[in-house]
Amino acid sequence: MRYEMIETRTEGPDSRQVGIVTLNRPKQLNALNDQLMDELGHALQAFEADDSVGCIILTGSEKAFAAGADISAMAKFDFADVYKNDFITRNWEQIRSIRKPVIAAVSGFALGGGCELAMMCDFIIAADNAKFGQPEIKIGIIPGAGGTQRLPRAVGKAKAMDMALTGRMMDAVEAERAGLVSRVVPLAQLMDETLGAALTICSFGEPSVMAAKEAVNRAFESGLSDGVMFERRLFHSLFATQDQKEGMDAFLNKRKAAFTNR
Ligand code: HXC
Repeated sequence: MRYEMIETRTEGPDSRQVGIVTLNRPKQLNALNDQLMDELGHALQAFEADDSVGCIILTGSEKAFAAGADISAMAKFDFADVYKNDFITRNWEQIRSIRKPVIAAVSGFALGGGCELAMMCDFIIAADNAKFGQPEIKIGIIPGAGGTQRLPRAVGKAKAMDMALTGRMMDAVEAERAGLVSRVVPLAQLMDETLGAALTICSFGEPSVMAAKEAVNRAFESGLSDGVMFERRLFHSLFATQDQKEGMDAFLNKRKAAFTNR
């Protein structure tokens, strides 16, 4: 597939690379339309299928991660269009099926669908110029890609209500304080910092990386005892891997582990 609205590349050693997807509709501040979301889904699935890729970064431009779903496209839709075409459900949630970690590197605006897309990633590293918001209320709608559900899970009800009802933006400092982002770094260091985190993840054994992602995500889909039981079973299963033998032997023998992802 030839991409027109995103760019992809890989970084890192040949065996364990980081797949990077850059949203690339600069004139529209990376507004998310159908074509862009199809391309994003395709690129993510390609990295998922590539054994040399251990982690994925999703990023935008300095000015905008993404300023939301494309309002000029949505302005023409009526109920029959969005319902019959399964708007959002059709091609926005492929990112949730990716089993490799996906890190959002956010600078500039992450608004509406852009904020929701960042929240669908496993964690967010923000530049100090990042601004998050769910301003849909200002254009007569509400968040439609999980914003009313993932934002309160990240920042609690009070701030989520504030954001969804007033449409105000949250800067990077507030976002980190509230738990929406894991780290805030100077804009110039955003990609280096995110790449560093991604390469660290790539250096670990894939079965334990996938299990850790799956277990943390289960916390948002289950009660505590079911979630802990899910974790316990995954934890037990990792003792069947070569990487567990290698990791513990390397520790005890004071050497660097050489994981084989088995
Ligand atoms: C289409 C957009 C856009 C969007 C910006 N642009 N956001 N086009 N959809 N979401 C376009 C502008 O029309 C403009 O095009 C160009 O990008 C630059 O934007 P400006 O407004 O001139 O830039 P600036 O003054 O710096 O303001 C930046 C901004 C503002 C604060 C981010 O653009 C803005 O408020 N955008 C809309 C944000 C928003 O409401 N997002 C939620 C969308 S609803 P021209 O041609 O004039 O140069 C949504 C629904 C989610 O996301 C539910 C399902 C996913």
